[in-house]
Amino acid sequence: MQTTANQQNVRPLREPLDVALLREDFPILKQTVHGKPLVYLDNAATAQKPLAVVDAICDFYLRDNANVHRGVHLLSQRATDLFEATRRKAQAFLNAAFEQEIIYVRGATEGINLVMRSYGASMVGAGDEIIISAMEHHSNIVPWQMLCEEKGAVLKVIPMNDAGELLMDEYERLLTDRTRLVAIVHVSNALGTINPVSEIIELAHDRGIPVLVDGAQSAPHMPIDVQAMDCDFFVCSGHKIFGPTGIGLLYGKRELLEKMPPFHGGGDMISSVTFEKTTYNELPYKFEAGTPSIADVVGLGAALDYLGAVGMDRIHAWETELLDYATAAVTAIPGVRLIGTAAQKAGVLSFVLDGVHPHDIGTFMDHDGIAIRAGHHCAQPVMDRFGVPATARASFAFYNTRDEIDRMVAVIPKIVELFG
Ligand code: ALA
Repeated sequence: MQTTANQQNVRPLREPLDVALLREDFPILKQTVHGKPLVYLDNAATAQKPLAVVDAICDFYLRDNANVHRGVHLLSQRATDLFEATRRKAQAFLNAAFEQEIIYVRGATEGINLVMRSYGASMVGAGDEIIISAMEHHSNIVPWQMLCEEKGAVLKVIPMNDAGELLMDEYERLLTDRTRLVAIVHVSNALGTINPVSEIIELAHDRGIPVLVDGAQSAPHMPIDVQAMDCDFFVCSGHKIFGPTGIGLLYGKRELLEKMPPFHGGGDMISSVTFEKTTYNELPYKFEAGTPSIADVVGLGAALDYLGAVGMDRIHAWETELLDYATAAVTAIPGVRLIGTAAQKAGVLSFVLDGVHPHDIGTFMDHDGIAIRAGHHCAQPVMDRFGVPATARASFAFYNTRDEIDRMVAVIPKIVELFG
């Protein structure tokens, strides 16, 4: 066991991660790209999958494949058991009070669209207001714009400062008796900012306003406790938490979900159907029409087991070290401008280089085996706010190492020399 600093009465950190050992679980990381060992620093776009996840999906199709909730036969029961076991794992992962509060969706985007369609349809009217922030991903902007357009409602935006931190005084001023929902990103995918969601939620709740938290970029990197946070909705994507694509989680408080109308109509979300009238199933099935992505749910269960074994607190501690290390190294290079310098950040390093287009940075790094993302990161208003068309973005996961960061940092002066 280690202890933080050399004081007493500080919370002991659990043993640091054995990153080299954990990397053995990710065979994809062992390959070469353009003749160089792969350095994968595009984890905010999607994370790699441990063998346990790949095996769980494979085993499901080899042994257990059947539809869920429908059959009396053994395979269907096994598939249903695996499917529902993941729901309980997700409940534990998010610390939700009830497993019925976990709704399977395709990803964070679909979770937000579900709330927009269902909560929005029933609770938002003409002249009502929705608050988002200046650092939202398009998936937490466009659905609310669509709703506002349909309903004649108003979209309000919390501004941010030059470091990429929300202006909380401005936020308080935006809250009115017409505000029906605050929808806020937990960690910005473009800036890395960790927003003070508990404070944001408390200020909204003081006025009786529910809050949706977009946790697509926080759930992979830190412990999440929806009860402590007291959010009303929380969304995240399976593929960013080391699980498969095509599956995500929507958490909603039970009393809210119970009041909300269904999202999609179809099989499984009903309790009875006649041509005259349909009655809906109970939670969570009311929101899960049609055959779900069963194997992906099983794979997600394996990812949650894996993360539980590694420990989200240890992941957060290691990635904070990586971020600090990378930030110091990158900012020491002349010509680098960091985009996103908030005091509270997760493992995202967005930067631009004087006179170099970010796509050239990404392409040059790729030739060196280093995978980063270059572009607007589906957050065009963030790029506009900082006056850049795009950034180069390195984003970390717990399997990244200081050596990999050294590899990335060493390339930057060469790019400046060549293109700058
Ligand atoms: N939202 C993902 C990203 O930031 C795709 O790259």
